[in-house]
Amino acid sequence: MRGRIWAVMVALTSLPLATASAQRTPSGSARLIVNADQGTTTISRNIYGQFSEHLGHDIYGGYWIEDGKGGWKYNEAAIGALEKLEVPFVRWPGGCFADYYHWRDGIGPREDRPTIVNTVWGGVTEDNSFGTDEYLELMRRLGASPFIVGNVGSGTVQEMADWWEYVNFPGKSPMADLRAKNGHPDPYDVRFWGVGNESWGCGGNMTPEYYSNELKRYATFLRGYGSTRPFLIATGPNVDDYNWTDVVMREAGRQIRALDFHYYTVVGTWQHKGSATEFTEGEWFTALQKAIHIKELIERHFTIMDRYDPRKRVALLVGEWGMWHDVEPGTNPGFLYQQNTLRDALVASASLDIFNNHADRVRMASIAQTINVLQSMLLTRGDTVVETPTYWVFQFYTVHHDATLLPVSLDAGDYTYEGQSIPAVSASASRDSLGVTHITMSNLDPDQARTVTTDIRGEAVSSVSGRILTAATMQAHNTFENPHAVEPAPFDGASLSGSELTVHLPPKSVVVLTLR
Ligand code: AHR
Repeated sequence: MRGRIWAVMVALTSLPLATASAQRTPSGSARLIVNADQGTTTISRNIYGQFSEHLGHDIYGGYWIEDGKGGWKYNEAAIGALEKLEVPFVRWPGGCFADYYHWRDGIGPREDRPTIVNTVWGGVTEDNSFGTDEYLELMRRLGASPFIVGNVGSGTVQEMADWWEYVNFPGKSPMADLRAKNGHPDPYDVRFWGVGNESWGCGGNMTPEYYSNELKRYATFLRGYGSTRPFLIATGPNVDDYNWTDVVMREAGRQIRALDFHYYTVVGTWQHKGSATEFTEGEWFTALQKAIHIKELIERHFTIMDRYDPRKRVALLVGEWGMWHDVEPGTNPGFLYQQNTLRDALVASASLDIFNNHADRVRMASIAQTINVLQSMLLTRGDTVVETPTYWVFQFYTVHHDATLLPVSLDAGDYTYEGQSIPAVSASASRDSLGVTHITMSNLDPDQARTVTTDIRGEAVSSVSGRILTAATMQAHNTFENPHAVEPAPFDGASLSGSELTVHLPPKSVVVLTLR
């Protein structure tokens, strides 16, 4: 019964992306050309950023756990797992929470910090034991750049300017003295700075015209200190709000370095999104169809940005992206705790290939969110950590960090489901600083294998090796009881003959290839 209801919902909610076709592509094949001698663009490692909010158990219970003595400590297991992802930055403290957060609540002796109620997420009390200095210490431990989102919605220009001074002023000043008194004499060199979050919604319900004026006012008072110059990031568009992009770029494009665009993949409706783990092939198809719709959104926002900024000085930051399911049964609806299956992994790989292939302006992205919230990397119980399938995709894609994008041309074939089609294969390629070429490829079809005939143009390669992420079922996921259900394995499905590489992609799989 549930399956039939969902089949109808899928038909109603599917986007008109696909070409109608009654038949599955008969050959099960795809053709890829990698233009190995045409790389000019760097895939910024900042495409592989993370977003961590004071929400559910992302910070408290995720990075920051009880020490058993009435206090808190860093979750070493979580930090250890994240180190392997070479996380470039972590966007913090929100999200909607950012426009609610008053940074002075989270500095100084912990016993003196006020307890607040997080009315944005779950109505829980928070003791502010994790604040600015704890976050910046976490960034140091992860080797990640800080990215602070300041409060425009319920804050003031003075409050934000003071925060900027607290983290960055190098000499003697009221805020630098306060930082030193709290044990941190040296400035932190925080550059990535968000001026509000979703100011069109939870950040203040502003019009783009009103927000642009506010943005310019705030920007005026965030000055460079020492060698630290602000890299200001404006609230960007929600999904297909092209007017937001147009107005903010026109009115304030010169003040900013990035526009923070948000797009979530929701299979059903916002009221009934669907289960993370119990789904049909129709829901698998819809998830991927909606996820790759981000390509069209990015290209249309690019067109508007190009009008005001043809030299691409302003980056499009995909500041919140990923799958948003119903919460796991029995959990606090305000905590957004969800499981993560092979479907999430494929959504991640297809999205990251799109970001890579648009790396000329998509120079930053942060998946929502890192631990225990939405499409997370990790699930935690105390200091026990489970790596999700999405974690492994991020681990595969570390090969692309700061590598040179190699343009690809892909005839992907179709994955057709009930008369609608999407490209069956996703791919991107790069060459790293050591001259090693990597290709990531995914087969979005859960039933049929694909043979991808790949022509490596302009480079002589003599060996190929790889790793694969797949599982027996679409719904496969890792749990505390069975943490290794979905994990990487060596891949032997690729072979070379001269410059032609033949790759046999099993159904529902993600592969990373190394070519030398
Ligand atoms: O990631 C969860 C929420 O989604 C964020 O707080 C908000 O920015 C977005 O609407």
